Amino acid sequence: MNNHERLLGILEEGSSDYVSGEEISRRLSVSRTAVWKQINKLRELGYNIDASSRRGYRLISQPDRLEVSKLAGMLTTQSFGQRIVILDSTVSTQQDAMRLAEEGALEGTLVLAEEQTAGRGRLGRKWYSPRGKGIWMSIVLRPTQPLAFTPQLTLLTGVAVCRAIRRLTGVEAGIKWPNDLLIHGRKVSGILLESATEDQRVRYCIAGIGIDGSLNVEDYPEELSHVGTSLKIEAGLEIDRTALIAAVLEEMEQLSKLYADQGFQPIAMLWEALSVTMNRSVRAHTGQGMAVEGTAVGLDPSGALVIETDHGERIQVISGDIHL
Ligand code: BTN
Repeated sequence: MNNHERLLGILEEGSSDYVSGEEISRRLSVSRTAVWKQINKLRELGYNIDASSRRGYRLISQPDRLEVSKLAGMLTTQSFGQRIVILDSTVSTQQDAMRLAEEGALEGTLVLAEEQTAGRGRLGRKWYSPRGKGIWMSIVLRPTQPLAFTPQLTLLTGVAVCRAIRRLTGVEAGIKWPNDLLIHGRKVSGILLESATEDQRVRYCIAGIGIDGSLNVEDYPEELSHVGTSLKIEAGLEIDRTALIAAVLEEMEQLSKLYADQGFQPIAMLWEALSVTMNRSVRAHTGQGMAVEGTAVGLDPSGALVIETDHGERIQVISGDIHL
């Protein structure tokens, strides 16, 4: 055990009582200044510690850390989350999940991280993933449909995350095609579906989900400050990340069963009901660099967005971005 863990142990023993700096310095065999420095390090890690010059130190609350046992205990799923890997820090959970998938990990295998140092977004963008402030997760999927159907899985994942957020927070998140979750017009969550293929056959997909949980307004870097938001900012409460992850996995499992039994149609209906894109005037930039303007009128059977132009022409947008 290092000094940092021993200090935490001493504070936890004290329960809600103060422990004097003198006692801590004696038990750790370090100076009072060293104790103070350790206390500040713990505070930086999210521990809330009260300091009183007369009484000493008192642990008020611990950071909300992700733990396999806590999450597994909350899960009611059969396959999603049966294997859980939690990393303290990683480059991108997408990479980790891909490695596991290459090694044969089953559908539903979950990778979570407290922070990502190079989180990936769609279209080559970066995904800001600060420590402990959100849910950065990747799930291994093993679809049996041909590659052309994988956009449907992106939409299915968006529905799952949207339903989980609504159920847990009561906040009316909506889906902007293809997979941004918005609250009051700002992005709270994004989904990145990456596929590994061989001769048009899908070997596996990785559904990457980022949810901004407890970021405060001042936590956002300049470039995100006008477009991003968090559940804490919108719902005004600290989110129990473990409960939200469990809810996402439950929704994913239920919707995957529905999709396997009845195909894409019921998923498309759920998506359209949660969408903030439908029947709105939109401007789309397709992955092929084309600009299309018109009204979003629905999803086609593959999951592409159908836009009707002012001339009545219907255009399918398979990938890209839309602006409302
Ligand atoms: C987007 O809206 O552009 C998609 C963002 C997806 C972010 C998640 S966070 C967990 C997983 N790991 C990554 O590197 N990206 C996804």
